[in-house]
Formats: sequence, structure tokens, C-alpha cells
Amino acid sequence: MTLSYDELRALDARHVWHPFTQAATSPPAILALGARDAVIYGADGREYLDLVSSWWVNLHGHSNPAIARAIADQAARLEQVIFAEFTHEPAARLAARVCALLPGDLDRVFYSDDGSTAVEVAMKMARQYWTNTGDDRTVFVAFDGGYHGDTVGAMSAGHSSGFFGAWENMLFPVEVAPFPATWDGDEDVEAREQRALLALDEIIGRHPRRIAGIIIEPLIQGASGMRMCRPDFLRALESRAREAGTLLILDEVMTGFGRTGATFACLKANITPDLICLSKGLTGGFLPLSMTVAREFIYEAFLGLDIGRAFLHGHSYTANPLGCAAGLASLDLLQAPDCQARIRAIEDIHRHRLPGLVARHPALTRPRICGTVAAVTLPGEGYGSALSARLKKNFLERGLLLRPLGDVLYLLPPYCIEDTQLHRAWDVIDGVLAKL
Ligand SMILES: Cc1ncc(COP(=O)(O)O)c(C=O)c1O
Repeated sequence: MTLSYDELRALDARHVWHPFTQAATSPPAILALGARDAVIYGADGREYLDLVSSWWVNLHGHSNPAIARAIADQAARLEQVIFAEFTHEPAARLAARVCALLPGDLDRVFYSDDGSTAVEVAMKMARQYWTNTGDDRTVFVAFDGGYHGDTVGAMSAGHSSGFFGAWENMLFPVEVAPFPATWDGDEDVEAREQRALLALDEIIGRHPRRIAGIIIEPLIQGASGMRMCRPDFLRALESRAREAGTLLILDEVMTGFGRTGATFACLKANITPDLICLSKGLTGGFLPLSMTVAREFIYEAFLGLDIGRAFLHGHSYTANPLGCAAGLASLDLLQAPDCQARIRAIEDIHRHRLPGLVARHPALTRPRICGTVAAVTLPGEGYGSALSARLKKNFLERGLLLRPLGDVLYLLPPYCIEDTQLHRAWDVIDGVLAKL
């Protein structure tokens, strides 16, 4: 039985609970009929240019035929298998390929399902690493405004992002250091970095041999408003982590797979973490999959005759073969010269368009660009503010899927977006800002 647009929307409104949404005040969800490349086709007859890569997952555009084919081929061979006694070709090959792209001896991949679980795994691994090596280190250090996902460890590390007020009493304490956010034309960045490092030193000094790990979103803090830091700060942070003898955990759930212009932010910053969390773009946006990649010495600390030394963590769909096949196909596309050229072209267009926008709208501040991500701060309030809702509505009416993060307007398009589409987006943004 075919259902009409209205019937489907009524079913959704009656039975579906949408994420990060206040259903009492939000308009009903748009019914997506399909999507191709950078465009989502709504059942309302509209086309929406996806400028947020559908929550930052979609690298190569929607319904990419190569990834779709890889998933279909894999589904016909092996759709899922328990990943304890068994392994399979896509999991082994994808792990090897990602490790080959990462710096140093980040050589051990632990698969899980999404960004939150990749972070949760990293934190649990760090905690148990110290237990296994006879050191009782329990303290984690995170950065102001950091967001790491919605499981309890990830929320604890990300509590300063402000998203988790409702669960404050479920979280464990995490030390928070300042994040020296910067932008184009920022003249105080070095002083801010020094203050952040001093604060970090103070935290480290208060917990001698007690810090299990330091976790950061490198180069760009996503959810708290595309706040960017300099590679220099990350290099100084890496030195502090080494001096303190603790583990450096990079959450590259958003920054991974080309977003910052390099395949990984750690490569752009020239640092080597001990644990790195990857998800979102891992499957090109087709399927939920993530990995926590550990350096070899961490893996070795879990070996022994005692089952209690092992990492007793896993998920039903760990290393799902369809997700891994999608990951391999997505990596093929990412590494192709034309995709690399598109990544550079997107950054060039951002650099060409953002200064003009800021010049025409003096209320805009803190323009910033890192790779394919461009952001600017509006005068306004926080997440879910009336202004951001109004902007979102205006953009949707003009065929742009943009989701301002509170007072931050940002673009994070799929790499397949065409120059004309991206220029049109900047034109529409200009027009909407002029109107509002
Ligand atoms: C940096 C970062 N870490 C972790 C997460 C959580 O990922 P997921 O929503 O897939 O659980 C996100 C999600 O936005 C993120 O941006």
C-alpha cells in the first residue's frame, strides 16, 4: 500500500521521536524522497542543497553509486558476522588502509558503531591501559566547549559544551582546560594559547601521575560552533602530554577524512596521538561505523593469560561488513585526485566568499576557515536560539540545508558539491542576512 505524503508525515508525527529536536515548537520533519550528490529531494517538491553533509557524515554526496554498489555486493556475500570468533575481508582491509594513512604506529583498530562509542572506547581503553600497567590513573582532561558524543564517558568529557544539563548528575568529573579558539585577523591568539597552556600545566600539576588521558577535537571543535585552533597549539599540547607521560586522545570523528583539508587533522598539525577516534565520514555517510585506533604499545598492554586484561567491550554490530565495504569504497573515492581537487576548490571558494560577506554584514564576527569548513559568528544567543531557528527556516525556504549552531553559521558541504552550487549558497546566505 502506497502512503501519501501527508499520511507518511502523520505517521512520523504520531510515532517518531526525532533527535536534538523540541517537537513542541519545531515544524514537522521534511519527508526526504531521495537524495543524489549534494541535493536532497523533498516530498514537498523542493530541492535542498545539503551544506552540512547531513550531520557531517556525507563525504561524496548522497547515493554515491560506487559506495551503493560496494554495499550491495557485500550484502550478497556476507551481511553480518559475529566479530569475536570471526573476522572478514572488508574489516581487515579497511583497518589496514586506515592505519596506513595515520601517523606513527597507530596500528590497532577497534571497531564500534558511531562517534560516541568510538570516544567511549578510547576513554575505557585509556583507563584500563593504566590499570593493566599497574598505574592508577583515573583523571581525564578535556577542553572547554569540546563535544564528544552522547554516551556517559563522552558526555563527561564534553560536559562543558553545554548540551548535557539534564544528565549532569550521571556524569563523572573531568578536568577542563581552556580551548584557544581563533579566527581570521585574530591578534591575541598567541596570548590566549599561552594562557590555555598555563591552565593545562596547572591541571597536570595538580594530578601527578593521575591523568589517564587528554582528549581534544583537533583543529576544529564542531558542535560548540566550529571553534578553530592553530596547529601550533596542538603541537604544544602533544609535548605537554608526553612530558606528563599520559595518553593523548584525538577525537577526529568530525575532522577526519579530509574535512580540514588534510586526510586527518593530526597530519595537518603534524602530531601523533596515542588513540584516535574516527566515524562520520568513515563510510562516506552511508552506514553507522566507527573505529578507535590505538598505538601498538596500548594494544600490547591488554595481552596476557588473564581474560581480565583483555578489553571486554563490544557491540552486536561491531565491524559490520556492509559498513566496512562502504568504508573501503569511500576511501577509494577520497584518495582519487579529483576528490582532493574538490576539497581544495571548496576551501578556495570559502576563502573567496567569506571576507566579502563579513564586509557587507558588519555584525558578523570571527570569520574562520579550515579546509572545507567555513564559519562566522552572528550576534546572538546559544544553541536552539530564536535567531538560529529563524535563519534555518529562511535557508530551508530558499533550498539550503544549513543548521546554525546557536550564534554560529557554518558550511560543511560534501566534497562533490559543484562550484556553482556553493556560490549559490553563499549568495543566498548573503541575501538572507541582508533581509534579517
Ligand atoms: C567531534 C565529535 N565527536 C563525537 C561525536 C559523536 O558522534 P555520533 O553522533 O556519531 O555518536 C560527534 C558528533 O557530532 C562529534 O562531532
